[in-house]
This record gives sequence, C-alpha cells and structure tokens, in this order.
Amino acid sequence: MPPESESPAGAPFVLEARGVTKRFGAVTAVDALSLGILAGQVTAILGPSGSGKSTLLRCLNFLETPDAGEVRFEGTPIRARDRELDRLRARVGMVFQQFNLFPHLRVWENVALAPRVVRGVPRAAARGRALELLARVGLADKAEAHPSHLSGGQQQRAAIARALAMDPAALLFDEPTSALDPELTGEVLAVMRSLATEGRTMVVVTHEVGFARAVAHEVVFMDAGRVVERGAPAQVIDAPTQERTRRFFAASGRG
Ligand SMILES: Nc1ncnc2c1ncn2[C@@H]1O[C@H](COP(=O)(O)OP(=O)(O)O)[C@@H](O)[C@H]1O
Ligand SMILES: [Mg+2]
Repeated sequence: MPPESESPAGAPFVLEARGVTKRFGAVTAVDALSLGILAGQVTAILGPSGSGKSTLLRCLNFLETPDAGEVRFEGTPIRARDRELDRLRARVGMVFQQFNLFPHLRVWENVALAPRVVRGVPRAAARGRALELLARVGLADKAEAHPSHLSGGQQQRAAIARALAMDPAALLFDEPTSALDPELTGEVLAVMRSLATEGRTMVVVTHEVGFARAVAHEVVFMDAGRVVERGAPAQVIDAPTQERTRRFFAASGRG
C-alpha cells in the first residue's frame, strides 16, 4: 500500500477517499479528492456553499456513488452492490441538517428502528438501548413523544441518538445546526462536543468556526470540489497559507 493509505501510526484510516470524483452533469462537485479520517479524531470540513462538502460526505458513505476513485472503510475498498457496502452503511452514521426522523414513530422507536431491522435486536433490548442513548443526549423525558412535539434542537439530538444506536465506527454530520436558531445550536454542539471527548470518530461539515476551532483535531478547507488546505484548526483558521482560505475565514469573522 502507498504510504498515504495509512495514518501516521500505521493503522488504516477509518474512512478514506482516494482520488474521489463525483459529477452532476457538467458540474464536478468533488474533484479527485483524497482525504483520510483518523480513528478517534474530529475532522471539520469548512468551505463556501457549493464547494462539494455534502457530496464528499455522501460519497464517504456511498449515498452517492463516486464516478472515479475509491472509498475505503477500515482499509477495505467499497464498491456498489458489495457486502462491504452493507457493512459500511451499518457502521457509518449520518446526521443531516433536516434531522430526517420518521414522523409517525415515537422518538425511542426512531432510535431503535435500525438495530431492530438491520441487526434483528429484539424490541425490548432495542428499546432499553434507545432509552439509554436518549438519556445520553438529554432526552430521557421525550422517549414516548413524536418528533413533531420536539424542538429542532431536540429533534437533532434524537437524530444523533439514532446514529449512535448502530455503534458507529464513524459519525458524519452535514451542517447539523444550520436549521437551528442560536440557542438550539448550542445544545446540539454541546452533545457533539461530549461525543468528541469520548473519542468518537467524527466528520463534521459545519459553518460553526468556533466549534471547529475548539473541537476539531483537523480542519479541512474545501473549494471547488478540492481540498485547498488542511491542518490543525489554529493553522487553517487563524494562519492559513492559501489566499482562498484566508479570504473565507476573513469573511466569516473567524467565528
Ligand atoms: N443531486 C445533485 N444534482 C445536481 N447537482 C448537484 C447535486 N448535488 C450537488 N450538486 C452540485 O454540486 C456542487 C456541490 O454541491 P454540494 O456538495 O451540495 O456543496 P456544499 O455542500 O459544499 O454546499 C454544487 O454545484 C451543487 O449544485
Ligand atoms: Mg452542503
């Protein structure tokens, strides 16, 4: 294996994009992009709207099939219609901007659904685990409610509990707080921060520069489907080497 396939410690990356390209018609959303995600680290992806952040995240868990390049999960290349794809889907959790909870299911049922359907966990055991996870995100008292009776911040915390229910090897977040007002943003970021403290492997597409600076181990700045610059938050956010990065963080007030 070429050296870039391994982390500095020699372990395979949890998730890795190798030369991934994804096009939509004439638009190249992700352009021959390579990125390795280290276990136990928080990788924050920032960049202007349309720079390919969501598409990259969706390629990493094969919600989009790359046109070229390769995605590896725990060192194994993933192909469409592969057994490895089911393994990746089961072990890589995704949290979306719009929560995507099932409105007809109670909150605990949303959290218990994938373990029951995908893993065949019995109802009582799945419920027990769901209640634990809901307590973990501060929603013990909302287990029996339907999603429409929750605030946006509570719904997003329920969506995080749902992602945790499959014991994910990595959690991908696509602008998890963009639909929330500032007060509710804080409660979701607090849960994410506590997951980071536990050593969860997380990839977070976000506009929250302050969160990226405080929580991320690595910041990846993207533009036009490519990685412009990556490194420690203090370097990329506060002392960028690239003009494009400097302009972006100057305009965003550096959080
Ligand atoms: N399903 C799609 N169909 C057509 N174009 C798309 C689709 N998804 C993304 N794009 C285009 O790909 C580019 C990157 O989009 P996206 O990954 O959503 O960027 P970001 O998340 O950084 O805002 C944009 O030009 C966008 O319009
Ligand atoms: Mg996006």
